[in-house]
Amino acid sequence: MNIIIRHSYEQISKYSAQIIANRVKSNPRCVLGLATGSTPIGTYQELVRLHKEEGLDFSQVKTFNLDEYLGTGIDLEKPYSMDQSYARFMHEELFKNINIKQENIFIPNGLTKEPKNFCKWYEDEIKKAGGIDLQILGIGRDGHWGFNEPGSSLGSRTRVVALTEQTLDDNYEAFYKNANISREQMPHFAITMGIGTILESREILMIANGSKKSGVIAKCLEGPVTAQITSSAIQLYSGEINVVIDDEAAYELKNTHHYRHMEKMNKQYGL
Ligand code: PGA
Repeated sequence: MNIIIRHSYEQISKYSAQIIANRVKSNPRCVLGLATGSTPIGTYQELVRLHKEEGLDFSQVKTFNLDEYLGTGIDLEKPYSMDQSYARFMHEELFKNINIKQENIFIPNGLTKEPKNFCKWYEDEIKKAGGIDLQILGIGRDGHWGFNEPGSSLGSRTRVVALTEQTLDDNYEAFYKNANISREQMPHFAITMGIGTILESREILMIANGSKKSGVIAKCLEGPVTAQITSSAIQLYSGEINVVIDDEAAYELKNTHHYRHMEKMNKQYGL
């Protein structure tokens, strides 16, 4: 596991975007797993810059998003309506600014009338695409990946979940408050890829920033593996892992000295 610590949000965003860009360049048909939330916004902005200024080509890339609120989704009649869906978020922050094909974008359908069938279909589509090459992840303050809230099985698959009070609070503050949607009105359920689904991806890039994440980053990386911190499953993961965090998010880690040393050694010996 590579734990990369940088001073600023800008630095971690650029570093993360570079990892993604390198994978896209070496495999133009790669399958990316994408995350929403405030964390990856800077990474997506850098990817857009790389596309516009350096011609980074997404024309053959396929993407699968981690999650979506149930009851939200882009209204096809009004694609950029002011809904708070993750579908809209992705279009605004990334998709409309790069040359990805619409048919290569997969996001859980929060408007589905048959969520159970949809979840199975989503898992099948990931398999049909050959699996996820690189999964991008944030981390919730309760330790979640996607919406895998505490108590989710570490083998879980794509499914419907109820959101915790803490997630509702965080996402209300970050997204719903400004849209004049009350906390009661915001969706309380979601569709999410499972931890088991995420662990099947071939590579993981987890990004975190800010002091709000320092406690949970320490639990995730250095605490016990537990379904109470679902992202702690990272410790069981067998593929390549890059965890890219800023100083504030790294603040409660105990072994930062070693992580910095490892990064230097990896660079020196090209590991
Ligand atoms: P955030 O959310 O990026 O808005 O902090 C992360 C998450 O909930 O996974």
